[in-house]
Amino acid sequence: MGVLKSAQCVFLCVFALASRISWALDPETEALQEADRVWQIPGQPLVKFKQYSGYVTTDESYGKALFYWFFEATQKPAEKPLLLWLNGGPGCSSVGFGEAQELGPFLVRKDSVIKFNNYTWNRAANLLFLDAPAGVGFSYSNASIDNYGDNSTALGSYTFLVNWFKRFPQYKSTEFYIAGESYAGNKKVAPEAISPCPLLCSIPGMSQAPGSKKQGIAAVQSGV
Ligand SMILES: *[C@@H]1O[C@H](CO)[C@@H](O)[C@H](O)[C@H]1NC(C)=O
Ligand SMILES: *[C@@H]1O[C@H](CO)[C@@H](O)[C@H](O)[C@H]1NC(C)=O
Ligand SMILES: *[C@@H]1O[C@H](CO)[C@@H](O)[C@H](O)[C@H]1NC(C)=O
Repeated sequence: MGVLKSAQCVFLCVFALASRISWALDPETEALQEADRVWQIPGQPLVKFKQYSGYVTTDESYGKALFYWFFEATQKPAEKPLLLWLNGGPGCSSVGFGEAQELGPFLVRKDSVIKFNNYTWNRAANLLFLDAPAGVGFSYSNASIDNYGDNSTALGSYTFLVNWFKRFPQYKSTEFYIAGESYAGNKKVAPEAISPCPLLCSIPGMSQAPGSKKQGIAAVQSGV
């Protein structure tokens, strides 16, 4: 019995250590993430999973920053894929519509009541909502003259991802999916969705090895 117990302990300890190592962060990265931590928005139902929100600069010369809201999976986030959700439009906010009306954990109902969505997609994945391009939702540009259009949106979203992965590097080693609806299916808005390379391959740490989990890139598209 004693032998069995210590064998179990060794197994559990090694396992715990292994999962902690893959999820371990240096203090600087941890501080960056904590700075974006959302503890609770007013009127929000209590939840156990973590959420983060903030700006990621995508163009320093224009002073352009894209806004995101990120929800860890309700359970075992380290074992779940990462899913980037993009609404269409062009010009529809993923935070205002995808999160608050469709598939996020907090649905905003009549009289600004926030209701927990029992069918929230963060049951299955770590869920990232991006307002893109600058000018949509909370995303902005400080330049009065700026480039808009699909190319600029695609480039902005790509730069967002590169910089977001620097802030949340633990998600570089999980499966990654891009999903969206309507105009988000336009191949310039989500170019990686149609052809995983070359854009995603150039994100440091996301280069594609055959059979690598990091190849898990998929897209959902509807009603273009
Ligand atoms: C935009 O301008 C504001 C006000 O000057 C500044 O605080 C902010 O950092 C600028 N944003 C970017 C992305 O440079
Ligand atoms: C929420 O979903 C779970 C799992 O599908 C189900 O067991 C539960 O009854 C649902 N609760 C409500 C209030 O719909
Ligand atoms: C957008 O990019 C494509 C492919 O690189 C190019 O053919 C097209 O001319 C660009 N459009 C604009 C408006 O810059």
